[in-house]
Amino acid sequence: MSPSRDWMFQALLAVWLCSSSLLIGAQNDTATQDNITNPAEVTALGAIKQRLIDPFNNLSNWNRGDPCTSKWTGVLCFNTTKDDGYLHVQELQLLRMNLSGSLSPELGRLTYLEILDFMWNSMSGSIPKEIGNITSLKLLLLNGNQLTGPLP
Ligand SMILES: *[C@@H]1O[C@H](CO)[C@@H](O)[C@H](O)[C@H]1NC(C)=O
Ligand SMILES: *[C@@H]1O[C@H](CO)[C@@H](O)[C@H](O)[C@H]1NC(C)=O
Ligand SMILES: *[C@@H]1O[C@H](CO)[C@@H](O)[C@H](O)[C@H]1NC(C)=O
Ligand SMILES: *[C@@H]1O[C@H](CO)[C@@H](O)[C@H](O)[C@H]1NC(C)=O
Ligand SMILES: *[C@@H]1O[C@H](CO)[C@@H](O)[C@H](O)[C@H]1NC(C)=O
Ligand SMILES: *[C@@H]1O[C@H](CO)[C@@H](O)[C@H](O)[C@H]1NC(C)=O
Repeated sequence: MSPSRDWMFQALLAVWLCSSSLLIGAQNDTATQDNITNPAEVTALGAIKQRLIDPFNNLSNWNRGDPCTSKWTGVLCFNTTKDDGYLHVQELQLLRMNLSGSLSPELGRLTYLEILDFMWNSMSGSIPKEIGNITSLKLLLLNGNQLTGPLP
């Protein structure tokens, strides 16, 4: 193939791929749409990670796709959507990952959280009072760190 025809072929292929995916998307928008994590919780997880020092990169997949459907390490979600139509984080299981840094107040935005487990890391700083706002919380596991202050 000459360079110009090769270019044309690629352009046509791109147009074809584009229009066919648009067609597939349009056919059944709601049914093919995957459930996703509540956006406020996705933002919160980003903020939580920002405060952590993760020497072994155990949380390296915390920017890849959706937390619940792409199975971010340590993020466990409810298997169905809630009333708001979104998936929600049920557990944060981050034990024994050599994490240091501090606990983000954004943890308080994980409003369906049941288990928060940061055991046996090197976390420091105070325990954010915002955790006290998570009414669904059943287990708060923070021992084996250097955290200070009262439990909210
Ligand atoms: C669109 O989704 C609905 C609900 O899941 C389903 O009943 C219907 O058959 C779908 N239609 C097409 C064209 O796939
Ligand atoms: C964290 O990552 C290290 C290095 O990849 C691995 O050996 C270790 O098992 C991981 N820890 C956990 C708790 O997943
Ligand atoms: C979803 O989770 C509930 C309990 O949390 C369980 O009873 C149910 O079997 C699970 N469903 C699926 C499809 O995994
Ligand atoms: C989205 O969640 C609803 C309710 O939990 C479920 O009925 C539906 O099958 C899910 N859709 C997908 C694409 O996972
Ligand atoms: C990582 O944590 C494990 C226990 O969870 C500990 O045995 C190990 O010494 C730690 N490694 C470093 C480099 O801190
Ligand atoms: C707790 O939640 C209430 C109501 O949503 C809010 O007004 C308050 O600022 C929250 N407190 C903290 C410490 O996040």
